[in-house]
Amino acid sequence: MNPKLTINIGKLRLKNPVMVASGTFGYAEEFMNFINLRELGAIVTKTITLKPRKGNLPPRTCETPAGMLNSIGLENPGLEVFIKEKLPILKKIGVPIIVSISSEEDSREFVQLAKALGKIKEVAAIELNISCPNIKSLQSTVHGQQKRNLSCGLSTIDHRLISQDPDVTYAVVSSVRSVTKKTLITKLSPNVTCISDIALACEKAGSDALALINTLYGMSIDVQTKRPKLSAGIGGLSGPAIRPIALKMVWETYKKVKIPIIGMGGIMDTQSALEFIIAGASAISIGTANFINPAASIEIINGIEKYLQKKKINSVKELIGTIECRI
Ligand SMILES: Cc1cc2nc3c(=O)[nH]c(=O)nc-3n(C[C@H](O)[C@H](O)[C@H](O)COP(=O)(O)O)c2cc1C
Repeated sequence: MNPKLTINIGKLRLKNPVMVASGTFGYAEEFMNFINLRELGAIVTKTITLKPRKGNLPPRTCETPAGMLNSIGLENPGLEVFIKEKLPILKKIGVPIIVSISSEEDSREFVQLAKALGKIKEVAAIELNISCPNIKSLQSTVHGQQKRNLSCGLSTIDHRLISQDPDVTYAVVSSVRSVTKKTLITKLSPNVTCISDIALACEKAGSDALALINTLYGMSIDVQTKRPKLSAGIGGLSGPAIRPIALKMVWETYKKVKIPIIGMGGIMDTQSALEFIIAGASAISIGTANFINPAASIEIINGIEKYLQKKKINSVKELIGTIECRI
């Protein structure tokens, strides 16, 4: 028996439901010597911005119990260099390329980026990163106007994100929707009280799919120096430590929206990937696991197939949201 692994995300048809998460796989060339990239369902690029960004000062990562903290600060070469230098390599791989984009100071940058990428045939989809915890930006500036005073005083970083407010989320997603027909995926932050409210705003605004979750705010201190281990003070927590939170958020969101969900957060192996699909994810993304085992995504594709064979399930689509739960 050969179970079907194909899955649809908006207009995208993926040969299997396993992608690699933004920021943990560079622009794919970094992994070329380790795995056969053609086997992946899709590749999500590191988030790009209009202009190049140097990111935060090091140290930008540190290990934590069952995970890691990062405060990369969206280091990226900017749109122009991405198109000239990174995209030609990505195009050759032969799997759908999902380009993750973000704004620095003004959400109109999302529209500019989406317009430019919309003209490129090989860009299969656009992922709106409205949930990065690591930039010193006014991500909540909508169309040039700051919605409210958003400083929370923890450090110099303004921690408020677009995806922490359903109205701001709606405004940004719908403005991008109006300029592109490409499949739109919106990436959500777990740093909220009710993620399904934000998810509903994305659906209403025309997002084709949701990606959740981005990292959780976190901190670690070196007791000898009494300094935070990250130069930025705080960062985003990822890895197995966040898996139960991510899983709960996927399940909660699945019950509220009709658009597909790409689940992520601490997926390390087949079993954890299956948990997300059973909770309601149509596809899954591998993030921190790439740093420990560059072949994790490929092993998970094979593992899902074996599980379906063993359980005599014809298609991975039949497994989505099959959680047995009376709540
Ligand atoms: C080092 C690092 C860099 C990341 N950079 C980005 C990024 O540029 N854009 C983005 O949307 N998410 C970024 N993320 C978040 C991941 O894509 C993912 O949502 C998160 O890490 C949770 O999944 P995981 O626990 O499997 O890593 C980054 C995560 C890590 C660990």
